[in-house]
Amino acid sequence: MSRLPFLVKDEPAQLIVDGKPFLMLAGEVHNSSAGDANYIERSLARLEGLHCNTALVPVSWELVEPREGQFDWRLVDATILAARRHGLRLVLLWFGTWKNTFSSYAPEWVKTDLQRFLRAETTPGVKMTAISALSTEARKADAKAFAALMRHIAEFDGEEQTVLMIQVENETGLLLGPRDVSPLAEEAFQGPVPTQLLEALEQQRQQGSLIPEFQLLWEKAGNRTRGTWSEVFGADANELFMAWHIASFVGEVAQAGKQEYPLPMLVNAWLIQYADEPAGHYPSGGPVSKMMDVWRIAAPAIDLFAPDIYIPHFKQVCRDYTQSHNPLFIPEAHVLVAAANVFYAFAEHAALGFAPFGADGDEFDSTELRASYALLQELLPLLARYRGTGQTRGIVQETAEKDELRFGDYVFEIRYQQPRSEERLPARGLVIEIQPGEYFIVGAGFEIDFHHAQPGHHVDYLSLEEGHFKQGLWVPGRRLNGDELRTKFDDVLIALKVRLYAFS
Ligand code: DGJ
Repeated sequence: MSRLPFLVKDEPAQLIVDGKPFLMLAGEVHNSSAGDANYIERSLARLEGLHCNTALVPVSWELVEPREGQFDWRLVDATILAARRHGLRLVLLWFGTWKNTFSSYAPEWVKTDLQRFLRAETTPGVKMTAISALSTEARKADAKAFAALMRHIAEFDGEEQTVLMIQVENETGLLLGPRDVSPLAEEAFQGPVPTQLLEALEQQRQQGSLIPEFQLLWEKAGNRTRGTWSEVFGADANELFMAWHIASFVGEVAQAGKQEYPLPMLVNAWLIQYADEPAGHYPSGGPVSKMMDVWRIAAPAIDLFAPDIYIPHFKQVCRDYTQSHNPLFIPEAHVLVAAANVFYAFAEHAALGFAPFGADGDEFDSTELRASYALLQELLPLLARYRGTGQTRGIVQETAEKDELRFGDYVFEIRYQQPRSEERLPARGLVIEIQPGEYFIVGAGFEIDFHHAQPGHHVDYLSLEEGHFKQGLWVPGRRLNGDELRTKFDDVLIALKVRLYAFS
């Protein structure tokens, strides 16, 4: 067996597959697509048609362990074999105790045994359909099933290594209230915050490595290093308590799986949707960016925290999830703007991967996504070479009419052709600096004027070329000059090679 896929976490983070850095140009299938072997075949064929190299596909606890201790791997195997047939790698999504905060993927024997598998409560005495993070039995059962899954993948796929990474659970957290108030949770909440958590946080505070938003909330509560949850974390105690317990649970599940087959593992987050949204309205205790410090301490087996981005401020979310050296991986992106945001994620933040959710569906027009992915597929070798060097920049229009990029003294003024509107795909693209003054630029929906950062200096073209990429190599087309000497990207994605010089 060759060395398994692994993460190198130095910046830029790399996922090494077959000994080489691998970027996941991916799509996530709908929740039920892997519920039938023929259906997943069709879904993965669609992803192949979109020029994906990776698919994110659920594995459902209820389907793989219909009776306790009896496993059925047929759908997992069918998924892996279908992926191979379609030239795709896989990130498998373990839908275990949590799926969008509830426990709908738990097997029947878990759902129906409320004595053994305790339920969360947000109103005292009223059981939810979500299992409690404090249920030791659920934790053990989930970890056992997940370990069995990883053992099976090791046996079935250890040689070919179609499966690259695993997402453990899906969008954890608690909804409908800020905290589990079931009797067990209530008792734990009245007790002290574990010293393991506080000591690790304190150490990070001293090193200045806490996430600023978290540091602020701790400061507001008085920066205490011992006491009950309320004493230490004040107004945010409920969310911190949930984060600690959910992350400990998930971390234990992940660790049990890694012991069998140590693939990189991630968790995904349902994001805070608007400023000042209260925890419990968004999933309390889930891995939102301000909780990453706590999650990392409670769940060391989790390698990265990943945002599911359906909200419009995509750039801000990318910034949030690259704090404290977290590698950016976007397992779910809004499918209707994915054809634009994908450029920004890879070029601006050296994303390891990007996946629109529901990419296998036929309910959206996939023309633009296919066009972006077709171009990126040929560009990936170049991106892999230049990412993280500061020589790649992403372009996606948000609210501004203009944006500016700097490469040394060369200033790129990006003028968007139209205001951003729901009606059309945002302007999009990326720039790769090959060397000072020489750039590959791809995109649509903007024009670039070049300036010099120093007063009295000017910038002009040496040459401008149309072309396209083939496996990372530039294939030149028309040389542009005269009336066509403009770095202009209209509605249809194109690629240009620009050479500039400066003079005074
Ligand atoms: C986020 C979840 O993580 C996905 O599994 C799916 O339910 C989508 N929401 C639907 O928009």
